[in-house]
Amino acid sequence: MKKVLFVTSEAHPLIKTGGLGDVSGSLPKALAELSQDVRLIIPNYQSLKTNEDVRYLCSLRVDNRAVDILETHMPEAGVIVWLVDCPEYFDYPGNPYVDEQGNPWSNNAERFALFCRIAVEVAMNRAHLDWKADIVHCNDWQSGLVPALLSLEHDRPATVFTIHNMAYQGLFPGIIAASLNLPGQLLHSNGLEFHSMLSFIKGGLAYADRITTVSPTYALEIQTPALGYGLEGLLTYRKEVLSGIINGIDLDQWNPETDPYISQQYGAKSLAKKQFNKSELQRKLSLPVNGDIPVFGLISRLVEQKGIDLLIECLPDMIDMPLQFVLLGNGEHEFEHSLQNLAHIYPDKIAITISYDESLAHLIEAGADIFLMPSRFEPCGLNQMYSQRYGTIPVVRKTGGLADTVIDTLPETIANKSATGIVFNEASPGTLLEAIKRAIILYSSPDIWKQLQANGMKKDFSWQQSAKQYLALYRSI
Ligand code: ADP
Ligand code: GLC
Repeated sequence: MKKVLFVTSEAHPLIKTGGLGDVSGSLPKALAELSQDVRLIIPNYQSLKTNEDVRYLCSLRVDNRAVDILETHMPEAGVIVWLVDCPEYFDYPGNPYVDEQGNPWSNNAERFALFCRIAVEVAMNRAHLDWKADIVHCNDWQSGLVPALLSLEHDRPATVFTIHNMAYQGLFPGIIAASLNLPGQLLHSNGLEFHSMLSFIKGGLAYADRITTVSPTYALEIQTPALGYGLEGLLTYRKEVLSGIINGIDLDQWNPETDPYISQQYGAKSLAKKQFNKSELQRKLSLPVNGDIPVFGLISRLVEQKGIDLLIECLPDMIDMPLQFVLLGNGEHEFEHSLQNLAHIYPDKIAITISYDESLAHLIEAGADIFLMPSRFEPCGLNQMYSQRYGTIPVVRKTGGLADTVIDTLPETIANKSATGIVFNEASPGTLLEAIKRAIILYSSPDIWKQLQANGMKKDFSWQQSAKQYLALYRSI
């Protein structure tokens, strides 16, 4: 049995802004089911929600700041969660990373450096918790200093750093390194420095014993200039310890047979009932209730990564097609406004909800016929897997985890019953529009459509296989 400290800046259902939250909520649970002793460590943000008991464990002092560690559990699964309680840094409302204007909190470097230092104290059993980690599994830049700081310790746990998204690196002006009191041994171009800046993600990439990312295709893509953001050289240099492990999904949370958020539960054998969710979705979003017209759905952070600009360019053409389009998301204001304007002009065809809404997300997965993910890049992506489980056909760009989890509909994949969606290559509005037209044509062939739904619904997207791969990795270090 391995003692694993899972270091993360979000975990569903405590707090979530995107897929990292889903993964941190479900991977530790899957590892615990493989009999591993997993503890999560996460900042105690004001917006973190738990119905479980929270108890005080201990107080620590790092870098001249007093910090309490509190203990709670993940609902149901029971995985132990250690909350890093430092009100000065974490006790304010809103998003963990950005303010209401979408700008990063000005003290992010200090906040997450403190979080990393506490994780190191806990991992090294210096927090009086009577528990020393064998493996410290870090996620994304917010935990990047942990492998770096641990590399300076004797008799330390092994470290794994998982890249969920290379586009977010935790880059700060170089001068901040001094105010964070970071050890001089780490401050050089093979360490935390990146073009005179301080890079949190490099702490993971340069110092972790193993690096993983969330799909095999993305593991290759980040070794190229297009998606390596200047770190492709370092990643290529470390390729012997870099691997891609595809994310699983939480089959309990995303199960159309038991989903409490949808209006009619259904499964592969009762797929006709999916239709009730479509009507409910149309009613709820004030679209004409029409069972025959294909409904396209999209749920996403509204950022360039997700190809939202491509979609916005396609929408005027989509108006002339027999379809409805529903979108749930928030993010860049420019995207929000363009989308809302179009919905205003075409209320019978387009419904845009600018918010973060877990329950509407489930209803869209259940009620839509087709799910759009025109991502410019996508390390893994989860909604294409949720969609397949819900009998909703994904239309995706061939990149990262989308390429690894959706099988295009072609004569041979129809024949061997492996087709589960529509895959297009180029990141351009024209190719996206072609893919949308293909989806409409396929939708009008009920036999093929039902086959695609059935193929997707029977695929195994559980965490079991991937959790076993992580465990094998832990054992290999
Ligand atoms: P990313 O982590 O890049 O945002 P993923 O596909 O891995 O992308 O995961 C996104 C997760 O966040 C999914 O669970 C998706 O349903 C959810 N999500 C994104 N935007 C919203 C929103 N506005 N409301 C509800 N859920 C959302
Ligand atoms: C990131 C990626 C997304 C991935 C998620 C969870 O936010 O953008 O593709 O699914 O992390 O690993």
